[in-house]
Amino acid sequence: MRKKVVAGNWKCNTNLQEGVELAKAVNEAVAKDGAKDVVVVLGTPFTHITSVVDAVDTNRIGVASQNCAAEAKGAYTGEVSAAMVKSTGAEYVILGHSERREYYGETSEILNKKVALTLENGLTPIYCCGEALDIREAGTQNDFVKTQLEETVFNLSAEDFSKIIIAYEPIWAIGTGVTASSEQAQEMLAFIRGLIADKFGAAVAEETSILYGGSCNPKNANELFANPDIDGGLIGGASLKAEDFLAIINAY
Ligand code: PGA
Repeated sequence: MRKKVVAGNWKCNTNLQEGVELAKAVNEAVAKDGAKDVVVVLGTPFTHITSVVDAVDTNRIGVASQNCAAEAKGAYTGEVSAAMVKSTGAEYVILGHSERREYYGETSEILNKKVALTLENGLTPIYCCGEALDIREAGTQNDFVKTQLEETVFNLSAEDFSKIIIAYEPIWAIGTGVTASSEQAQEMLAFIRGLIADKFGAAVAEETSILYGGSCNPKNANELFANPDIDGGLIGGASLKAEDFLAIINAY
């Protein structure tokens, strides 16, 4: 059965000490109430990863970076490679987030390299896709997301594809307080699962965890997660408060 995943994306928030405190609070509560069926992931800034890995029970909580370099190594000042991320004990890499696509010019070509390096290093990509408001208003969101997937992760072999997690995050819902309705989210995730089935077969589609992201919070998580194709969430703002993040985990 495919895994349910609740992944926090801290973005560029928390200093090291605050991040470790947050991780410890999540760790303590997860240890207490189990959250047994849910894979919990903390997507921290690069600077925090090692300390967060040390602060949590990594059998229960996975740690993610929010990006990695598009090159394996070399003269790329300021970059952090997938191998470096792997060496910290992190297990996941968030890739293709709309903020990286929009503010840092990440194209499908760049993302293909990052996905490949992430997989080569035994890390799990949490691959983000999703449309902007004008595309949703024009009603062409399905075509848009299909193209995003076709240009990137649909180039993988079925074996490699089966190692990744997909996160659908409509840009108009990210950090805006406007959540996609559970119908809109379910509709898109079912559409994505259908595309995966067409490309890689029904068995791979059935096993792929597909997350929803965008203003997911303790109030709406329950309704969102109740849908058959929504396998969890990628949580931004609400992952910065242990209490809210835990409430979302416990929405399952
Ligand atoms: P949000 O962000 O939950 O703050 O809307 C989600 C994300 O960008 O991953």
